[in-house]
Amino acid sequence: MSAGSFPPSVPEDGFRISVGEDADGFRCRPGERVLLAMERQGRTDIPVGCRGGGCGICRVQVARGAYRTGPMSRRHVTEEDASLGYALACRLYAEGDLVLLCRRASSTGSARVST
Ligand code: FES
Repeated sequence: MSAGSFPPSVPEDGFRISVGEDADGFRCRPGERVLLAMERQGRTDIPVGCRGGGCGICRVQVARGAYRTGPMSRRHVTEEDASLGYALACRLYAEGDLVLLCRRASSTGSARVST
C-alpha cells in the first residue's frame, strides 16, 4: 500500500510506458527494465529476444520521456543511434512516463515475435 522507498514524484505503480502514441501502455517500476515490465504484465508490444542486450530484437526509439540505459551492443545501437533516442528495451530504464516507437509493433497492440 505504501510507496515505500519510492521518491514522492514516482507513482506507486511506476511509470506509464506506451508503445505508439495511442497505446494504453503498461507500467514500469523504477529500476525495472522496460522489456521485463512488459513481459511481467503479459504484454507483447515489443518483440523479445535474448533479454540480455545482445540480439537487437527489442530495439525501440524513445519518442518522449526521461530514461537511462544499461550496457547495449553497439552493433545494434551505435552512439549516434543512442543520441537519437534508440535503445534496447531490455536495457532501458524509465525515469518518467515514456512513449516508445517500435517498428515491429502492430496497430492492434500485438507484435510479431521471433526468437
Ligand atoms: S532482447 Fe535481445 S537485445 Fe533486447
